[in-house]
Amino acid sequence: MKQKVLVTGGAGYIGSHTVLELLNNNYSVVVVDNLSNSSREGLRRVEQITQKTIDFEEIDIRDGDALSRVFERYDIQSVLHFAGHKSVGESVAKPLQYYDNNFTGTLSLCEVMQRFNVYELIFSSSATVYGATTQCPISESAPIGATTNPYGSSKYMVERMLMDLAKSDPQWRIATLRYFNPVGAHPSGQLGEDPNGVPNNLVPFVSQVAVGKLSEVKVFGNDYNTADGTGVRDYIHVVDLALGHIAALQYMEEHQGFEAFNLGTGRGHSVLNIISAFEKYSGQKVPFRIVERRSGDIAECFANPNKAKDILNWSAERDLKEMMEDTWRWQSKNPSGYS
Ligand code: NAD
Ligand code: UD1
Repeated sequence: MKQKVLVTGGAGYIGSHTVLELLNNNYSVVVVDNLSNSSREGLRRVEQITQKTIDFEEIDIRDGDALSRVFERYDIQSVLHFAGHKSVGESVAKPLQYYDNNFTGTLSLCEVMQRFNVYELIFSSSATVYGATTQCPISESAPIGATTNPYGSSKYMVERMLMDLAKSDPQWRIATLRYFNPVGAHPSGQLGEDPNGVPNNLVPFVSQVAVGKLSEVKVFGNDYNTADGTGVRDYIHVVDLALGHIAALQYMEEHQGFEAFNLGTGRGHSVLNIISAFEKYSGQKVPFRIVERRSGDIAECFANPNKAKDILNWSAERDLKEMMEDTWRWQSKNPSGYS
């Protein structure tokens, strides 16, 4: 039986792009996903692009028995763990759902991994674990835990659990990847982000305005202490992010313990930069209006990406032009996403 990488949440936005790069790198993949925020269509397109097949099991990772059956059926060597909820606003309204899915889901996964002697885990974390108090650029040694919402707290709690787990048994090889702001789409235009309802995040919102589904972008505040007064973030192309997972997977094959890596570009762009870049590279008008700040937002957030470069030999290569062009190709070819 060929050894496989298990990808939880592999039908989702970042997971599906990573599955594609795993297949391109000759890994054999089994995806588990409960399709709570995705459909089979993304993975079907990955199979079409790569001309390779993906084993898929529709299960919830909190169901330990179902997960155990997956570990019995396949020879799993390592796990990339994307499955979870990701909306900050929803987490404030439904904290128990977020702690349950994100924390209990990861606990359930780790228990099954331990039972089946699978010790390599790459976890999808977020720059949100650094919270609001940190100076930019943010390096991995900055304190974590000053989180401002249940989503961020659930990611922080998982990181704490994984640190303790790695300390408890030297066989564990765990990397937590702290993503900055993932954007963009596969350059084929076949795969991309397909948010439910009105997007909360800037780039999907901008692209839906450009395609005519929404009328204007609301810019949340222009009185921040930044060059043009609007919020600054470290946007990273989803294909670079996917390749960062391959680099982490390869590194952790050879290294024990727990490691945290920032996955960002190290460059910040303001909201107005993003809107004008999107207009330039899509050729579409993107009307916008300045409105009040969004509660909980910070002025700026960007990575010090040196640790991933030095240790994983990985750095983000795709610039704002590719992020915007690829987003637009996906959005214009698939105005209703996968449906
Ligand atoms: P996504 O919602 O597109 O993908 C998550 C996938 O997990 C979905 O396919 C969903 O159906 C599945 N899922 C959720 N709960 C599950 C469960 N209990 N059992 C099985 N499957 C389950 O989100 P994404 O943008 O691809 O994010 C992937 C991961 O990266 C998440 O953990 C998210 O918190 C983290 N992250 C995302 C961002 C971002 O901006 N997208 C930023 C930082 C961190
Ligand atoms: C948000 C989450 C973060 C999560 C990330 C996932 C918050 C506080 N943080 O990050 O935890 O990991 O999404 O991608 O929600 N903006 C507008 N108008 C809009 C939307 C956004 O002006 O319609 C601005 C925001 O104020 C911010 C920037 O655009 O300055 C980026 O916002 P967004 O894409 O939502 O990401 P973050 O807030 O950085």
